[in-house]
Amino acid sequence: KSGTTKQSVIAQYLPAVVEPQSDAMAEPVFAPSNIALCKYWGKRDAELNLPVNSSLSISLAHLGTKTQLSVAEKDEVWLNGNQLAADDKFAVKVIRYIDLFRGDNSQAVKVETENNIPTAAGLASSASGFAALMLAINQFYGLNFEPQVLSAFARMGSGSASRSLYHGFVEWQMGYRDNGMDSFAMPLEHSWPDLRVGLVKVSTAEKAVDSRSGMNRTVDTAHLYQSWPLQAAADLEKLHQAIANKNFTLLGETAEQNALSMHATMIASWPPLLYWQPDSVAAMQAIWQLRASGTEVYFTMDAGPNLKLLFSAANEAAVKQQFPAMEVVCPFT
Ligand code: DP6
Repeated sequence: KSGTTKQSVIAQYLPAVVEPQSDAMAEPVFAPSNIALCKYWGKRDAELNLPVNSSLSISLAHLGTKTQLSVAEKDEVWLNGNQLAADDKFAVKVIRYIDLFRGDNSQAVKVETENNIPTAAGLASSASGFAALMLAINQFYGLNFEPQVLSAFARMGSGSASRSLYHGFVEWQMGYRDNGMDSFAMPLEHSWPDLRVGLVKVSTAEKAVDSRSGMNRTVDTAHLYQSWPLQAAADLEKLHQAIANKNFTLLGETAEQNALSMHATMIASWPPLLYWQPDSVAAMQAIWQLRASGTEVYFTMDAGPNLKLLFSAANEAAVKQQFPAMEVVCPFT
């Protein structure tokens, strides 16, 4: 751990005075949600939110978060059209994040944020949420941060948010520097128009242990975690190869094994962390069954019970037949 604070790192990139721009009422900004194919799991610096391993994701096109800042009398946070109480957990997080940029004694703001991620899909919104908030702050205060700086600062809000600044395949390099400014995400050039992501909901109940506490517990208590950085590095390599050669089998196998390896480290934590529900396991078995019968489909899972499926456009009908309620996303159209 470096002992460096977020504020001290951000301060080096701020102008002498941070204040709303006169034309800051522009359009709301949008950031897509993303699903990691090689997961981020574990922090090497909790204050700066620096990861133990690099990760690679695919963004979910139009599914994500729209956010807008405007001048107000008092700080206000609105989520999906409803004003949140000042002491609401989410509202406090948002205002604290804005404080990192505007300091303590400045103009109050109204934050309006909307998620269009269907709650039925059971997807987390912190990745697109912090990415959109960073973009909105950048615009509102006219900060003109470089893309890499935007990504590094979004990472300070939530690690996976570093990847939500971009569409398509995105890689977040873990970085090595103490101040973390080399720990940001960049888009990969490759596109894959036939690729589909299916969102299979098992439960939308709020999870008992959020990813932040979950990964800290894993790092602190699971001996199995020692193998995780090696798994992640090997998988990242395979994913690069799979993407460059449009090798769907390699992509799917790598993503599924990576997710299960991450979950293995969670299960080996104490107290144990098992995000799966009986229906999650039933869905996994249905997927393995589909595969055995010739439909190539793979899954990945995050810190929750829901599954994200990977398949090609040609197999969409067959997969839908097994999972009729699944929401299908085309990441490259
Ligand atoms: C399992 O980015 O939500 O989804 O940095 O603590 O906010 P914090 O964690 P977060 O963790 C995401 C974990 C994951 C894997 C991934 O998205 O890479």
